[in-house]
Amino acid sequence: MQNISKAVAILRKGGIVAFPTETVYGLGADARNLAALRKIFSAKRRPMDHPLIVHIGDISQLSDWASEVSDSALLLAKTFWPGPLTLILKKAADVPDLVTGNQSTIGLRIPNHPIALSLLQAFGGGLAAPSANRFGRISPTTAEAVREELGDAVDFILDGGPCAVGVESTIVDMTGEEPVILRPGMISKKQIEEVLKKPVASQKKSAPRVSGSMESHYAPVTKTRLIKDISELSMDDLPLAVLTRKKISINNENVHSVLMPNDPEKYAHDLYLTLRELDKKNFKQIVIEAVPEEQEWDAIRDRLMRACG
Ligand code: TXA
Ligand code: MG
Repeated sequence: MQNISKAVAILRKGGIVAFPTETVYGLGADARNLAALRKIFSAKRRPMDHPLIVHIGDISQLSDWASEVSDSALLLAKTFWPGPLTLILKKAADVPDLVTGNQSTIGLRIPNHPIALSLLQAFGGGLAAPSANRFGRISPTTAEAVREELGDAVDFILDGGPCAVGVESTIVDMTGEEPVILRPGMISKKQIEEVLKKPVASQKKSAPRVSGSMESHYAPVTKTRLIKDISELSMDDLPLAVLTRKKISINNENVHSVLMPNDPEKYAHDLYLTLRELDKKNFKQIVIEAVPEEQEWDAIRDRLMRACG
């Protein structure tokens, strides 16, 4: 709790604080303080027109940030918050343009993590928080990874251990006629459709509105490739690391194989940790075996495709 007080004091003075959420670590700033918001963009080296998600501590704060909350949006909030779902809504008039990237909409969520919730409750207002990584890189899922990514650029890091979910929230745009998933996450399209009792669309091609929807994003520094099947593994750029879901035996000391879980939730939990560890070793390439086509794997498939450009 002492750390929460320290974090709140830093935020009130316009500093930036990294904090754990259930998905990945966020880099938080007072969403109404322009100088603090600018620090986020410079720490991440993120383009200024990329919008930020505002994290709130209570559903009653929705109206501070959104001018319009439809019944469907409210139903999703009540069902999935606190949790790994970001709602895109029409923004309230006084939301800073730096938060929304000059758009008329805003991304909002209540994260499901005790430290994030304590921080938000103690702070009282909204915290704009992108993932606490350098622009384009893998999101951090441990405090250690935040330190590696941001070093001295962050004023304080709240350490909550490894994140439970491991990939970023599902983003659903609720401002149009039908809900549209802009970024898949571990709350699936099917779960959202079941709650809303209507079909939900998925955005197909990348739009610059969502930086996480650019084609190369969430990427290791090491060249990373996706293969359909392990039989496609070629031994050209050695040493290499290969991620599979079945045990393989390759008699080559320059091939390091990593056995990934066969369960999507466990896979998501391990993915960024694994890529980050492999990225530190001197592999010429990281090769990843494709994951199943089922919806439970949507978020993972999406991140793998982006990690591989
Ligand atoms: O799980 C998460 O969502 C994590 C944790 C920290 O909450 N946050 C996160 O933030 O992934 P960030 O900034 O790395 O990704 C947020 C995505 C970006 O791709 C951004 O473009 C999109 O949300 N976004 C934010 N506001 C938006 C808006 N008004 N319209 C469309 N996309 C928006
Ligand atoms: Mg990010």
